[in-house]
Amino acid sequence: MDTYIRDIYSLPVGSPFEGYFVIEHVEIKKHRTGEPYLRLVLSDKTGTVPVLWWKPPKDVDLAIFKKGDVVFVSGHVEHFQGNVQPKLKEIRIASPEEFDSKKFICESRFDIEEQFTRLLEIIDSVKNPYLKKLLEEFFYDDSFVERFLKVPAGKTIHHACIGGLLEHTLGVVEICETVAKRFKSIHRDLLISAAILHDIGKIHEYEINVAISRTTEGILLGHLYISCEMVTKKIDEIEGFPHDLKVKLLHCILSHHGEYEHGSPKKPKTLEAVALAYADALDSRVKGFEEHIERELGNNKGWTKRHFAFEVPIFFDGEFNYDLGDE
Ligand SMILES: [Fe+2]
Ligand SMILES: [Fe+2]
Repeated sequence: MDTYIRDIYSLPVGSPFEGYFVIEHVEIKKHRTGEPYLRLVLSDKTGTVPVLWWKPPKDVDLAIFKKGDVVFVSGHVEHFQGNVQPKLKEIRIASPEEFDSKKFICESRFDIEEQFTRLLEIIDSVKNPYLKKLLEEFFYDDSFVERFLKVPAGKTIHHACIGGLLEHTLGVVEICETVAKRFKSIHRDLLISAAILHDIGKIHEYEINVAISRTTEGILLGHLYISCEMVTKKIDEIEGFPHDLKVKLLHCILSHHGEYEHGSPKKPKTLEAVALAYADALDSRVKGFEEHIERELGNNKGWTKRHFAFEVPIFFDGEFNYDLGDE
């Protein structure tokens, strides 16, 4: 039976399990006797688990196992210093026809087409001709759209699924729309455009093979810079695009992580930038909570384990609802 990682955590010590997993991390270590063993972190869409291949057969080349490989493993559950750390009996590279890649990466819970249609309607509602032209340059371009609709918004913290960037972008845009209605001094078209474009660099930051990984470009440059570069290039092709509008839009994108320690080279210094930074944090944090609950509890209710980044356990006794709802 193909076990999910979530289920390994609830199995009693000594329970056998088997299944297909992605190698998230792998190291060859040595016993005191000098004999090698393997320490791995395995993952699927329900989480990650550290495991040991304690006694590999002597004739196996341990260097064949690489990060990103899908492997078939069997083993049994053990605990080490209070943490789950199964030991493997067998591990081998799996061939693509053996496993269903849906085990490794989830899809946005919302209908992709429906969300994209809604985003196009919002683009249509932008009145400023320069911003509208800029948005259309991106969203009427098939090759851009194809990537935008697939890419996740994150690897672990939030929207780590196919269609995640679209879902997150729409979430941020809708929050910004509400803020712009409440604070009339906000330049609504600027805020909405910034919200739509703020994370587009993620199409070059992440790639989906079997699992989600960050590209070299993503690791070296980050999506704030990449998004700004993409936007700058397009703006420079639009005749007469006002310079001050370009600067304000780029400032929103550059500052949308809010703080230097969250990767923003600039802190928000305009109404639109501060609104975007909080909308971005709000959408990603609530979604991060929701994903953690789903991953940890499945259909159960009650408390999750402590979230590694948010540093709290989360309580949920409601029902999941993924209706896109009315505008
Ligand atoms: Fe971002
Ligand atoms: Fe974002």
